[in-house]
Order: sequence, then structure tokens, then C-alpha cells
Amino acid sequence: MRRRFGEALLLVSALFGCAFEESVPLRADAAARGGEERPMAHDIHSFARPEEARVRRLELDLTVDFATKRLSGRASLLVAAQAGAKQLLLDTRDLEIRGVRGDAPLAHALGPVQGDFGQALTIELPAAPAGAAARELWIHVDYATSPAAAAVQWLAPAQTAGGKSPFLFTQSQAILARTWVPCQDSPGVRMTYGARIKVNSPAGGPPLLAVMSAAGNPERASPDGTYTFDMPQPIPSYLLALAVGDLAFRSLGPRSGVYAEPSVVARAADEFVDLESMIAAAEQLYGPYRWGRYDVLVLPPSFPFGGMENPRLTFATPTILAGDRSLVSLVAHELAHSWSGNLVTNATWNDFWLNEGFTVYFEHRIMEAVYGDEFDEALAVLGLADLEHTIAELTAGGQARDTWLRLDLAGRNPDDGVTEVAYQKGARFLQAIEQAVGRAKFDRFLRAWFDGNAFESRTTDDFLAFLRRELLAGQPALEASLRIGEWVDGPGLPTNCPRATSRALEKAAAEMARFKGGAAAAALDVKGFTTQQWQQFLRALPAGTSGARLAELDAAFGLSNRGNSEVLFQWLERCVALRHEAALPALERFLTAQGRRKFLKPLYQELAKSSWGKPIAMRIYAKARPGYHAVSTATIDGILKWGK
Ligand code: BES
Ligand code: ZN
Repeated sequence: MRRRFGEALLLVSALFGCAFEESVPLRADAAARGGEERPMAHDIHSFARPEEARVRRLELDLTVDFATKRLSGRASLLVAAQAGAKQLLLDTRDLEIRGVRGDAPLAHALGPVQGDFGQALTIELPAAPAGAAARELWIHVDYATSPAAAAVQWLAPAQTAGGKSPFLFTQSQAILARTWVPCQDSPGVRMTYGARIKVNSPAGGPPLLAVMSAAGNPERASPDGTYTFDMPQPIPSYLLALAVGDLAFRSLGPRSGVYAEPSVVARAADEFVDLESMIAAAEQLYGPYRWGRYDVLVLPPSFPFGGMENPRLTFATPTILAGDRSLVSLVAHELAHSWSGNLVTNATWNDFWLNEGFTVYFEHRIMEAVYGDEFDEALAVLGLADLEHTIAELTAGGQARDTWLRLDLAGRNPDDGVTEVAYQKGARFLQAIEQAVGRAKFDRFLRAWFDGNAFESRTTDDFLAFLRRELLAGQPALEASLRIGEWVDGPGLPTNCPRATSRALEKAAAEMARFKGGAAAAALDVKGFTTQQWQQFLRALPAGTSGARLAELDAAFGLSNRGNSEVLFQWLERCVALRHEAALPALERFLTAQGRRKFLKPLYQELAKSSWGKPIAMRIYAKARPGYHAVSTATIDGILKWGK
């Protein structure tokens, strides 16, 4: 299946040909950056040919219809076409194209369906006057989305906290924007955007609010149901985002606040009290926040990710509302993306670690600044353990290639590259450089990377060239000590990988060792355990622990009834691995109450491993699947071979 995408792409490019292959144009703004010119990186996950005609601005006029589960209206694209360019290529998937026009209707065709990549929409540009140079023109695409559009989840009132109003949200990363907007769906193409979103609020309910990854997010519903947005900074398509629902707003500071359903917003505001301090810490490190406001939208529990860094408006799962602010590193992470990712973006999904590895590194720096070394060390130890687990799993599964930082996702969905390798191995690489050159120097270096490449998309090679020029020039011994090749183009973890230690987590592991040695659960010293200590304690639960001993732990610490999603997850993961049937009701509740892929995937995976667990997984999934977002069902369908 996956192989076929790659072959199909080759076929498609062969069919369309490429008249411009010979002269890859250089970035227009290259001169402004000291004459450093580079050709655009080719994106194998997009049909677009931005080197011929590139979208620079998007104007969206959409109506949101909950009754038919469709967004419909017009996407107007301001296109910069090179001299001689005859076509504009857009990415689409499951869109109903109703018409395309410039000043007059334009010929257009949808290409063959290529799995997750969707269909190329080829638009014949109006003829340019003979000898005309490059030009800019508006192209208008009238279209509607499918009720099954993979980016969009339409929630029934029962799937929300309030239970009275429907809800809608989008998730565009990595290549799902094309399922709700015809666009050049590549991280190498940036555009500004404006939007007018008309919301038909269902009769009898409260008027619904629309919010986007843009300026214009309202505090109150608009009287006629039309919301207007503008994103003046150029962004890649994967950062397009829209949500509509019964939302309330709480301010957290002069430029930050939180949106959530009315019954959730107070809890959310309390959880995120430190948001302004985080923004201040981030600015202190890498320069001014460039996007105006920073708000967080807390979504209903089916949101498939922990967080998504939609500019100006991070989307977040409600499973981080632990009540004790112990899971707010997720907000630090999404905030950090305002620099690493949103300001300087991976040019292709093979360079994904430039987004996520930088962001995890930055996240740790924010956490350290706001909450101190100890808290951050605990997070780092847990993160490294996750990475080592992932590397072992990928290696055992014959996917050692996916443990390199520089990925090879040819023919595959970029989602395959979303592993701890990009996140944690990426972050450790930066930390190794930091330790080798010193923090002050490294801070200046990273700030220069963000400033010098702001609002651009960059490749792994761009970064390595910058690193060699700015930090390593004339120091071959230093360069050799970094083992750059092993990090970037090699498997597993190089020997210079920094390893954190945490006294708090050692204490947690020691208590588990006592339990293992026969101590009664009630006799363990867990007083004041943090979330991260509980995680470490439970991770250390050994194979072979009996049902009676697990029941003893549950009785002593109320593990099956934990409100903290990370602790509950860790407990349930061990219970499934140890076949602790008494925890099955709690497992079923957890799997049906939220749809965060990070929690679902390991639990279903563990169940699917055994003939004991597989039927349980199938039964729970049948019930839970209609409530999950397409991002999560795509993954779990694969694990359970659902529908096969
Ligand atoms: N940008 C990612 C989410 C993402 C990655 C969506 C790739 C689609 C494709 C986001 O910033 C993220 O990394 N979220 C993490 C949380 C983070 C604290 C590690 C998540 O959702 O678990
Ligand atoms: Zn991220």
C-alpha cells in the first residue's frame, strides 16, 4: 500500500512532465540575506510545483454546516507565476471542486487518487502576453469538503463537555490541510491568509464561536455568525487551523488567554497561569515573540494530539488539565514552536527533526527557566527512556533507518516519521552541541539561526552548513567530537548522547525496588510523589508481578481512578502488559473517554500482541472508533488490521 504512493508519485510527475527542471529558481529574498542563495528543496509529499507558480496568499470564504458536515465556499489564491508558467498545481484530497476561475472560468482537472496524498488539481493559467515576465494573479476555487475529510472532526453534542452543541476542529499537520483547503500543501511554501467563516449555529443552542490560527479570534459570538480573520505573517499550510463550538474565553495576561468550552475554561485558566512567564522565558532565550497574541484552545477529548502549534492559537488536549499544572510542559513545547517550526520550518518532512528536535530542546530550556532544574531533569530522564524504547522497537522491527535524524519518507505518509527520534534524538543532538561549545555561545548561535531564517523553510543540510560555519569553523577536533554524521545519518544513539539524571526519579525507582523485594504497597514512601515520579515508579513495575500484588498497588494508591492522564496511562499500560484483568473496566473507560493517539497507540498495540488481548481490543475499538479523529483511527486501524 505504502510503496504504491511512491510509485504513483513518480508516475504523476512523469505524466505532467517538468518544463522547469533545468532552471530551479532561487529564493527572491536571498540577496537580502547576504547573497546566500539556495534552490528550493523538493517536497516528495506534495503535487505542487511552487518553482513554477507559487501561492502567496489565501483568502477563504467558507460556510460551516453542521447538518451536512461540510465546509463550502471559495478559496482565492494569489499566485506568483514565473515567466512561461502555464499551470498551477494544488494538492487536494476528498474535495468536491465546483469551479475554478481567474477573471474568467479556467480549465482544470483532478488527477488520479493517490492514497493519502490525494489528487493533484491542475489549473491552466490564463495565457500571458507574449514575452511577459513573472506575474501575480488571483485564482478562485469554489469547492466543498467531504463529511469524511480527514483533517476535520465533526463532533456530536454528546462528544463535548457541555453536551448541548456540536463542535468542529481541524488538524492539518502533516498533509491533511489538502482535505479542507485546496492549497500547495508543502512546508516549503508559505502564504499569508485571510478568512471569513460563516457559522450556521443550530437552532435552540448557544451561538457558536469560530477561532483560527490567525488574528481576529473573538471573545464573543458575532451577531450574524460571520467571523473575520487575518494572518499577516506567511505560514505553511500545515498551520492552517479552524475550530467552531460553544467556546468561552479567559484572559491570562496582556497577550495571552485560553479558549475552552464554558464548563472547562476555569480549570484551563488555572492550569495555564504560568503562560505569561513561559512567553517571557522564551523571549529571553531566542528573541521577541513575533506573532502578536498567544492563546491556547482546549479541545474536546477526541483531539488526537497532545498539542498542535497553530500560530497565535495552540490547540491542546484536555488530558493535560491535571489540576496541579504537572503537565504544562506541553504548553512550553507548543509555545516553543512559535520559533522552531512556525518561524523556521522544516523544508520537507524528511527534515522533521528541525521542527520537533529543536522544539523539545527549547521546551526544556523554558521548563528549566520557569520551574527549575529538578523538574526539568525528571522530564529529560523520562524522555530519554521513551527514546531508547522507540529505538529498540524500530530496530527490532527492521526499521533502523527510521532512527536516523534525517528521514527517508519517500512513498510513505510523513506521519511515519512522527517518532521519538525526531523529538528526543533531535533534542539530544542539540544538547550535545550545547555541552561541547558552552551554553552562552550556543544560545547566541540558536538565536542567530531563528533570526537569520525567520519565515523561511530550511533543510537539514542548511542547518549543518550553518553549524559548521558559525560554531565549528577551523576546529576539526571539536567537529569530530560531535559525531555529526552518526547523529544525522546513522542509527540509534551516538556515544556522546547527553544523559540526564534525576534524584526524584531515582527515589521513585527505589520505592518500586522495595515493592519488588516484597514490601507491602501501603508501606512504600510515596508521600509527595510528583506526576513524573509516579510515571517512573510505574514504568519500573516488573514483568511477572502477580494480579494480587497489582490489586494491592491499586488499592493503596487508587491508580485505576487517577484523574492524571499520564499516570493513569502508565498504570494501564503495565496492567495490559501484565494481563491484569481487574483493570479492564478502567482501561475501557480511558480508551473511550479520550482519543489522544499517544495514549491509544501503545495500549491497543499491547492488547493486539496476545490472543488474550486482541478480542478485547477489537470489542473496545468497535465502540470507541466512531469517537476518534481520523489521525487516530488511521493508526489504530493499522495496528488492529481493522476492516481487513
Ligand atoms: N506538531 C506536533 C504535533 C504533530 C506532529 C501533528 C506531526 C502532526 C504531525 C506537536 O507540536 C507535538 O509535538 N505534540 C506532542 C506534544 C509534545 C509535548 C511532544 C503531542 O501531541 O504529543
Ligand atoms: Zn511539537
